[in-house]
Amino acid sequence: MAATAMGIEEALLLHLQSHAAIVDSGDWAARSSFDHGAVMDVIKSLQGSGFVEAQSIKRNSWILTAEGELYAVRGSPEFQVFQAVPPEGISRVELEKKLEASVFKIGTGKAMKNKWLESLKGGTLLRKVQGVTDEVKLQLLEIRDGQHVEVPDNAITDLKNRKLIESRTWVGYSLKKGPKYAPKRVKPATDLTREILQSGEWKEREFKPYNYKALGQPTEGGHLHPLLKVRTQFRSIFLEMGFEEMPTNNFVESSFWNFDVLFQPQMHPARDSHDTFFLKAPARTHKLPEDYLERVRRTHEEGGYGSIGYGYDWKRDEAEKNLLRTHTTAVSSRMLYKLAQDKFVPKRYFSIDRVFRNEAVDRTHLAEFHQIEGLVCDRGLTLGDLIGVLNDFFSRLGIKKLRFKPAYNPYTEPSMEIFSYHETLKKWVEVGNSGMFRPEMLQPMGLPADVSVIAWGLSLERPTMILYGIDNIRDLFGHKVDLKLIKSNPICRLGIH
Ligand code: PHE
Repeated sequence: MAATAMGIEEALLLHLQSHAAIVDSGDWAARSSFDHGAVMDVIKSLQGSGFVEAQSIKRNSWILTAEGELYAVRGSPEFQVFQAVPPEGISRVELEKKLEASVFKIGTGKAMKNKWLESLKGGTLLRKVQGVTDEVKLQLLEIRDGQHVEVPDNAITDLKNRKLIESRTWVGYSLKKGPKYAPKRVKPATDLTREILQSGEWKEREFKPYNYKALGQPTEGGHLHPLLKVRTQFRSIFLEMGFEEMPTNNFVESSFWNFDVLFQPQMHPARDSHDTFFLKAPARTHKLPEDYLERVRRTHEEGGYGSIGYGYDWKRDEAEKNLLRTHTTAVSSRMLYKLAQDKFVPKRYFSIDRVFRNEAVDRTHLAEFHQIEGLVCDRGLTLGDLIGVLNDFFSRLGIKKLRFKPAYNPYTEPSMEIFSYHETLKKWVEVGNSGMFRPEMLQPMGLPADVSVIAWGLSLERPTMILYGIDNIRDLFGHKVDLKLIKSNPICRLGIH
């Protein structure tokens, strides 16, 4: 509370201690030299806590207009005109020169009407009376300065019509002690401080009850995007399951690592520029592992490892084309190749990062999104292991019921689409794609023949939109996102539904 408000409150309560009432807050404020507005605020606050009982009072009063203020100082125009007319009279032309235009214009007529002046033939003005009193000025002064002045009603009407005064509604209070009146108001403490404890004041002091519904101060500074929150949760599930994160820090990839090593034929429609963003500069990757490239070429053309291949003419030129990776499986293929070079040990890998596809943008598709990918490589893994690890993974998200549907990926066999039962939508929805990497992909890398890799992938956007109740992907990602969403979205808790 400001120091003056504090002073007003103290003075007011003290006054009520020895007086039955304050009849008019305006008078009281004037006598105590307080600003009436500030007094009104204090009264409202004291009334709110029952210290006083107040009733509002209204009064209509008159105040001077700017013109009225001027005449209160200089005299009314008619008086000024009268003063300017010498006893021997004056011509209108001469008089006009002596006065302000508006004073001459208004004052002459009024002075004639008042019968203070007369007009002779030929335009000379003569005094009709010896002396006059400037009633208008006196009335204006009374209204301006007087506290309890009586100006006759007809005079008020005149002044109002001449726009020298205007009415103003004055509001104030009349007040007396309230049910909780005390000569001093001690505000309930909002904090149990060291001082209150040490002084023993806590025994007597009233404390303000906690408001558990109050919202905290909004935190300024950084806010995490929902996608980042959900990503953190997925990451911790993978980490709990013993998976290592793969380095995904290359959006630009060669067709070789994105497609060819995955046994995706070069005439596959996904490798068309209608589906994939190719780079103009640098358009190509020339440095590729030559012996491995040769094995990939042979597998595509004539097969091997129990496969007959695709039987087409594989072109290095096509494999060298740079693109924005279309899936994080490109990263998985690099990691598996590296594992084969280093000396194979069983591994569990995951990644969560951005991928790009040349898609028509609509409410569920963007040209870029995030993929979550997990893979396990070990000797003798079966489809049963894949189903088992998927059940484990999804149950940690709170998804207990899974179903699998046979599917096709160039790099997995068998392949399965993953469906889960959506409790609120009451239907089965697709939640991911999975499979066992083909020998045509693994063996050219140099992995031992008995090593299998089970893998799955899903988008990060889909579960995020479901968790945050967002039905248009453009509200979640991109330039149309409302910053308020980023500042106020709740924490993410997977597995709790
Ligand atoms: N790469 C697949 C996709 O883009 C997902 C996937 C990953 C499928 C691993 C099978 C195995 O949809």
